[in-house]
Amino acid sequence: MSISHVAIIMDGNGRWAEQRGLPRLAGHSRGVEVAREIAVAARDMGIGYLTLFAFSTENWKRPAEEVSGIFSLLRQFFAREASDLARSGIRIRTIGDIEGLPEPVRRVIEDAERMSSGAQRLVVNIAMNYGGRWDVVSAARKLAEAALAGDLDPSLIDENRFAAALSTAGQPDPDLVIRTGGDMRISNFLLWQTAYSELYVSPVLWPDFTPVHFKAALDDFASRDRRFGGIRKRSDEQRRGEGVDGP
Ligand code: IPE
Ligand code: IPE
Ligand code: MG
Repeated sequence: MSISHVAIIMDGNGRWAEQRGLPRLAGHSRGVEVAREIAVAARDMGIGYLTLFAFSTENWKRPAEEVSGIFSLLRQFFAREASDLARSGIRIRTIGDIEGLPEPVRRVIEDAERMSSGAQRLVVNIAMNYGGRWDVVSAARKLAEAALAGDLDPSLIDENRFAAALSTAGQPDPDLVIRTGGDMRISNFLLWQTAYSELYVSPVLWPDFTPVHFKAALDDFASRDRRFGGIRKRSDEQRRGEGVDGP
């Protein structure tokens, strides 16, 4: 079964560090390296889009020290890795309320996006200051503004137009959402886009997640029966058994 877009809730950094008696930031630091490894693995597997949840609109509730530590790790990552990733065919994009991020973080994000804009093998969306509700509300606002300006007839707003106003405009919806760290919830990730995504929860904490675990998630996905509200597709074998040819 083909897979175009994988989205990952990279959870468990804090627990990984705490289990080792380390500061939580040590988990985030290792987590950034794992994100790079998984992006390379996704590229090698021919996946077109990878969305990584790096910082949610709710993560501001954490201690200021942890928040600024995460931003500083992300800033270093973008500054250090963007050109290498771009050379290896990986395009970096960010989704989220970027204007709400500290100015130095915004600057390196913009540089990384510009530098990698020509890369064509894999698009990595880094979700930063991202919330699914934020995404839906900002799409609604964009459409309302266009309608008020007289550029859009409200009766023409349909699902396609709405999707085109979201941060993931032009991209396929995620086929598969992976959450590491064992919790079975969406935590305000891609709410609209995951309407029919397959979900895979791994107990492995993100800093321990390897390309082998990633491959296991994709193999599990391959065995899913995606019905999209329809009915089960019968296998070729079943059809042959009934003496019926073709689809
Ligand atoms: C995920 O790891 C990274 C972010 C949310 C920034 P956590 O920091 O949430 O790790 P746990 O869930 O506390 O272990
Ligand atoms: C989700 O993890 C957000 C990211 C991975 C960036 P959280 O750790 O913030 O989610 P909750 O609080 O367990 O729902
Ligand atoms: Mg967490």
